[in-house]
Amino acid sequence: MPRSGSSPGAKEAPVARVATNDRPAGRESLTITDNRTGKAYEVPIENGTIKALALRDIKVSPEDFGLMTYDPAFTNTAHCKSRITMIDGDKGILNYRGYPIEQLAEHSTYLEVAYLILNGELPDRRQQEEWVHSITHHTFLHETMKRFIEAFRYDAHPMGIMVSAVAALSTFYKEASNIFDPVGRRSQMVRLIAKMPTLAAFAYRASVGLPFVYPDNDLSYTGNFLNMLFRMAEAKYRPNPVLERALDVLFILHADHEQNCSTLAMRAVGSSHPDPYSAVAAGIAALYGPLHGGANEMVLRMLKEIRSKDCVPEYIQRVKQGQTRLMGFGHRIYKNYDPRARIIKQIADQVFEVTGRNPLLDIALELERIALQDDYFVSRKLYPNVDFYSGLIYQSMGFPVETFPVLFAIPRTSGWLAQWEEMLLDPEQKIARPRQVYAGAPRRDYIQMDERV
Ligand code: CMC
Repeated sequence: MPRSGSSPGAKEAPVARVATNDRPAGRESLTITDNRTGKAYEVPIENGTIKALALRDIKVSPEDFGLMTYDPAFTNTAHCKSRITMIDGDKGILNYRGYPIEQLAEHSTYLEVAYLILNGELPDRRQQEEWVHSITHHTFLHETMKRFIEAFRYDAHPMGIMVSAVAALSTFYKEASNIFDPVGRRSQMVRLIAKMPTLAAFAYRASVGLPFVYPDNDLSYTGNFLNMLFRMAEAKYRPNPVLERALDVLFILHADHEQNCSTLAMRAVGSSHPDPYSAVAAGIAALYGPLHGGANEMVLRMLKEIRSKDCVPEYIQRVKQGQTRLMGFGHRIYKNYDPRARIIKQIADQVFEVTGRNPLLDIALELERIALQDDYFVSRKLYPNVDFYSGLIYQSMGFPVETFPVLFAIPRTSGWLAQWEEMLLDPEQKIARPRQVYAGAPRRDYIQMDERV
């Protein structure tokens, strides 16, 4: 089984030394010599990995707990087998279920991709019609949700509303806790994918004091989302086809990205078997952070702060001095140009033809130009990621900056759900529970208040 990922970055120091021994080469195993005891252990290699539990047998005495790996932030740990998304970070390749992202972005739609991600295969015509029909007919929210959303402070961040509102949905669908009922599980997945745009649009309209717009089932998934966000007094909202398609492609690009921070949150929370609404709420919370899905919002704020193309060198200097990060640059897995960023750059041109050129684009292009030839970024393999240009498109399309991470959360819902279901059905998975290296105080006796110095 091929591994997703990338080789460690150029800056990482080697932790293991190569030793030679006289065993014949060609065996799919690893021989480990414990220099504390002089004993040698043979550990099988499968899919380019060794089982962490195999190390537990390496002990200095029968009472010894055995060895563990120490891997803060899971930089070199495969925590699952997955058949959903393959990334080759060194080559800049991203495939969903084997299909290259470039082909899906050119030929497919977000809902078709969501079907593919969840089911493993592209739908035939009948399956596609049924799928689109079922998503389209679950877009409405219980009216109580409107009052729930209205109860937030007028300036609430839409991601804060989303985390809470999605978790609150679980209280409407009590049967959602039957996660091992395949039919019921699928119904909740359809509901979640269908209702995310409605929740997001309501959260936005509440934040700007506009009346909620109900879903229009005649429109496409993204067309209806634009309708719920932007419709004013017109009897029928008609999305601009270029912008509708651009948003759909952006949704395709964001649908899944294997074991990233929010997917890990979804899997970890899901592993204790709550309903999927609660687990998706955890995924949204993880996505909210500026190092993950919040980065597109931060890119826009950064470009505004830089103000003009001439100020770019000064900003790059601050980044190199460690005062700030270049938002929208760098990735744990991609050590090459993020293939999603390449596609987004093409979409940007199409969008700007309709909306007019975003004046911040010149600053972004200058940042990219300078960074790609500066040794600081080159030696660390820091390239533009998916968030570098997406914010510029969203802003030109009229989305307020705070909604940018929400535009990531909506399409990522299909990826989270596919990963969650895969985890639930994987007999090798259990409740997530890593180990720690305890580095705190040794046992000591309680000190009475008067005796503390
Ligand atoms: N600007 C400046 N320096 C950076 C950046 C950056 N954006 N990213 C990494 N570095 C440096 C970092 O300071 C470190 O340098 P040194 O070795 O001298 O200490 C080196 O590169 C390695 O960084 P790291 O933090 O160990 O890398 P990571 O793999 O843990 O972090 C990352 C990945 C995405 C969190 C990071 O690159 C970052 O903070 N980027 C900016 C935020 C961003 O754009 N996030 C969106 C990611 S793509 C969308 C998604 O999937 O969420």
